[in-house]
Amino acid sequence: MIRKSGICDLSFAPNIYLYGMIISAVVAVGSNNEIGAKGDLLWVLPKDMAHFKNITWGHHVLMGRKSYESIPAKFRPLVGRTNIVVSRDATLRYEGCKNVTTIEEGIKFATDNGEEELMIIGGGEIYKLAFSLIDRIHLTRVHHSFPDADTHFPEIEKDKWETVSTELIKADEKHKYDFEFIELRRK
Ligand SMILES: NC(=O)c1ccc[n+]([C@@H]2O[C@H](COP(=O)([O-])OP(=O)(O)OC[C@H]3O[C@@H](n4cnc5c(N)ncnc54)[C@H](OP(=O)(O)O)[C@@H]3O)[C@@H](O)[C@H]2O)c1
Repeated sequence: MIRKSGICDLSFAPNIYLYGMIISAVVAVGSNNEIGAKGDLLWVLPKDMAHFKNITWGHHVLMGRKSYESIPAKFRPLVGRTNIVVSRDATLRYEGCKNVTTIEEGIKFATDNGEEELMIIGGGEIYKLAFSLIDRIHLTRVHHSFPDADTHFPEIEKDKWETVSTELIKADEKHKYDFEFIELRRK
């Protein structure tokens, strides 16, 4: 049973059969797939932070060591979620996290714990490594380009992904840019 996704047709998600769960990416990108610069995000968008929390709540979230370290200390591990941190350093121990040395080990941990939708939450290296495994993308598209970015999400080829839903949020005093919540499923 898929508890949080509310999806009935799972034909887009072969990982259900391989791992007993959907594997999703949750990411916010600029107009050119930018996701970060100098170890940090490129924008402050409170409604996107709330959206991220809502989507990932109750799930296993898998991230690279650098993304984990980019979360302000008082907010990590991310509460209400099982944090899995990937590092090549097998001696690394972040309190309150599952520390793994491969993405596959993280996937197995989530499967063994009965997860139904594993959330890959970054950053650039981990999205790139996991991209071929991803069934679904919870994408936030920020309608602005950020030339100083040094980290990017892989190209999302239009013919390989189906748009399931979109919601446009207009800029306001707390949100400098227009942005859009988009759900994509692999075709
Ligand atoms: N816009 C968004 O939605 C979003 C989301 C997340 C992050 N970000 C941004 O992305 C940037 C961070 O991304 P990043 O690409 O620099 O780093 P990252 O993907 O978060 O983490 C990279 C680390 O993952 C580990 N790793 C990578 N490949 C591995 C492998 N094959 N096996 C085991 N471990 C492996 C390594 O850790 P060790 O060095 O410890 O071995 C590596 O240094 C930041 O700017 C952050 O703000 C943006």
